[in-house]
Amino acid sequence: MFTIRLCYFFLLFILNKSCCEEYNLYGEAGQAYALGINVGRPEQKLSVLVDTGSTTLAIASYARKDSNKYFRTENSTTIYNSGKEVRAKYSQGTWVGQLASDIVRFPSLKLIPEVRCDIALITKSHKFFMNGSGWQGLLGLAYLPVGAWGENVVVGSWLDSVEKVLNKPMSFKLKLCGVESLTNATHYGKFEMLDDSMASTSSDTMFRTPILRKRWYEVGVLSIRMSNHTNKSLNASLKSFDNNLTMDDTDNHYRDTCIKLNKEKSIVDSGTTNIRLPDSIFREVVNELRSAAQSSNILILDEFWYHGEAACWPEPQEWSLPSIAIDLLSTDADNQYFTLEIPPQNFMRVITAHNNSGESGSVSEYCYKLGLEAGGNETVLGYTAMEGLQVLFNRSAGWIGWLPSDCGPKARITGPHNFSMSLSLLCQLIKPVPDVAVSIKAAQWTLCAISIIAAAVLVYLLAPCIKMFFVRPLPRSQQISLSQAALVEQEAT
Ligand SMILES: *[C@@H]1O[C@H](CO)[C@@H](O)[C@H](O)[C@H]1NC(C)=O
Ligand SMILES: *[C@@H]1O[C@H](CO)[C@@H](O)[C@H](O)[C@H]1NC(C)=O
Ligand SMILES: *[C@@H]1O[C@H](CO)[C@@H](O)[C@H](O)[C@H]1NC(C)=O
Ligand SMILES: *[C@@H]1O[C@H](CO)[C@@H](O)[C@H](O)[C@H]1NC(C)=O
Ligand SMILES: *[C@@H]1O[C@H](CO)[C@@H](O)[C@H](O)[C@H]1NC(C)=O
Ligand SMILES: *[C@@H]1O[C@H](CO)[C@@H](O)[C@H](O)[C@H]1NC(C)=O
Ligand SMILES: *[C@@H]1O[C@H](CO)[C@@H](O)[C@H](O)[C@H]1NC(C)=O
Ligand SMILES: *[C@@H]1O[C@H](CO)[C@@H](O)[C@H](O)[C@H]1NC(C)=O
Ligand SMILES: *[C@@H]1O[C@H](CO)[C@@H](O)[C@H](O)[C@H]1NC(C)=O
Ligand SMILES: *[C@@H]1O[C@H](CO)[C@@H](O)[C@H](O)[C@H]1NC(C)=O
Ligand SMILES: *[C@@H]1O[C@H](CO)[C@@H](O)[C@H](O)[C@H]1NC(C)=O
Repeated sequence: MFTIRLCYFFLLFILNKSCCEEYNLYGEAGQAYALGINVGRPEQKLSVLVDTGSTTLAIASYARKDSNKYFRTENSTTIYNSGKEVRAKYSQGTWVGQLASDIVRFPSLKLIPEVRCDIALITKSHKFFMNGSGWQGLLGLAYLPVGAWGENVVVGSWLDSVEKVLNKPMSFKLKLCGVESLTNATHYGKFEMLDDSMASTSSDTMFRTPILRKRWYEVGVLSIRMSNHTNKSLNASLKSFDNNLTMDDTDNHYRDTCIKLNKEKSIVDSGTTNIRLPDSIFREVVNELRSAAQSSNILILDEFWYHGEAACWPEPQEWSLPSIAIDLLSTDADNQYFTLEIPPQNFMRVITAHNNSGESGSVSEYCYKLGLEAGGNETVLGYTAMEGLQVLFNRSAGWIGWLPSDCGPKARITGPHNFSMSLSLLCQLIKPVPDVAVSIKAAQWTLCAISIIAAAVLVYLLAPCIKMFFVRPLPRSQQISLSQAALVEQEAT
């Protein structure tokens, strides 16, 4: 009896350990991935979007028209509210709030202790919360220079607080799986924190791309194009980066493309839904995609391709379209790159899936939207480019690693491919202009220095000045990315 029971426990233990991977991220169609969070004492359970496109943990602290789920500051016995006003602006939406700190714990992150960290308590927002969204805030995972800010203050990041408490650098990994099934548009995934001192156990080869600047997760995107699934990817890659291509070649199209892609910046942003491209490149890729669809007799209106409108069918679709290939600069050598192959299951996004066959009177409807959008001069790899892959953000070492995944669409990674010359030179990834943040800090430093010379009497005035030097983030270009699609999308049903 005892042995049997022991066996049983042992079995349970094994099953717990190996069989059922725990997913901790969920999202409704069109919304990004949300993670459960406990804030304050007594603990209040809320959900926050996992966002690599911003830095601040920001939580609603007021009832909104469509939701009365929010953080009740008056109920927390551990909150410290500084009362200082802070704000953030996203590519769509803004909020204003107060800088506070409280105890924060993520129940699904078993190895991460609860920490006291800065929180922006949102008191007012514009086009930020979606109608009926299943989340009440945002967990920003980027670097401090793009944190929410206010007069002489910047909101510290949760990640930095965790590293401080653990006294070691931490990385994190996002494994986004996309929709549950063809008939359920809810998507799921896993967020995991990794200790940098532990060696990676995975046998899969990881492809790494350098983080070019530690603000957002800025990377070098070399090209975005169609790639035919059936053909070997190297062949497709040759189209853009032939080994023998030299600068003498008359066709500098691909060089122009990669300069355009990185002109402002290219970022990896889990808080954005789509892959956002500069206008001209968007047109090029979508034109190709549309003709590929036409040649395989998939008829879809231009509104779908070019204007972000939904297309619906009475039954779920299986797409026979080529993949989108994204070439990223490799950390290994300046002339190497690797390719993410994003299948149509990613970029033909399911937005509603209703099976009403059983009931009378209503029809089944499966609606899709294109996971690509045009906008400005920057490139954003939203979660459409991450589903079906595992993405490891090594913050301290400054690279992002891409691995295959056992869930979601069959996205692939191929490489490394060699190029005949330095890609960061070719694509002008190393910009001669100094970093905005650096120049602002330099200016403030000069200001401080002048004051010192001016009068010793004014010494006490320097305190705020010096403080500002340390904490003030760039007041300009406070554009944290979170696309309109991710936030304000409310599907027509
Ligand atoms: C917050 O406190 C009020 C009383 O001050 C209580 O009525 C309410 O249930 C509490 N809410 C939560 C979420 O604990
Ligand atoms: C929000 O949703 C409610 C019902 O779910 C609806 O009545 C209202 O019109 C929606 N508001 C907007 C701005 O879409
Ligand atoms: C879709 O999946 C989610 C998560 O498993 C589940 O909660 C939900 O009920 C499902 N929806 C439908 C319509 O089956
Ligand atoms: C992050 O990079 C450093 C240096 O390359 C490495 O030692 C560490 O193991 C990496 N962390 C993870 C989680 O892979
Ligand atoms: C590979 O591409 C070539 C054109 O470059 C095409 O003729 C051939 O059919 C493709 N192979 C497969 C298996 O589709
Ligand atoms: C590219 O494809 C062609 C046929 O489509 C094939 O003959 C050639 O060997 C391929 N090259 C590489 C490098 O795979
Ligand atoms: C590159 O150039 C060499 C010599 O100029 C030639 O032998 C080789 O076939 C070329 N390779 C490709 C992929 O065009
Ligand atoms: C890829 O497929 C498209 C149509 O599906 C075709 O026009 C194009 O030539 C193919 N490219 C390669 C390299 O096979
Ligand atoms: C929809 O539901 C009906 C019965 O409820 C079922 O027979 C059918 O297979 C379902 N369709 C899909 C695509 O799941
Ligand atoms: C894109 O760049 C061009 C040229 O530098 C500039 O005129 C334009 O305003 C930029 N567009 C946006 C949306 O930043
Ligand atoms: C790429 O270059 C490296 C050395 O820089 C070399 O070891 C490797 O074999 C090359 N790969 C290919 C596919 O040519």
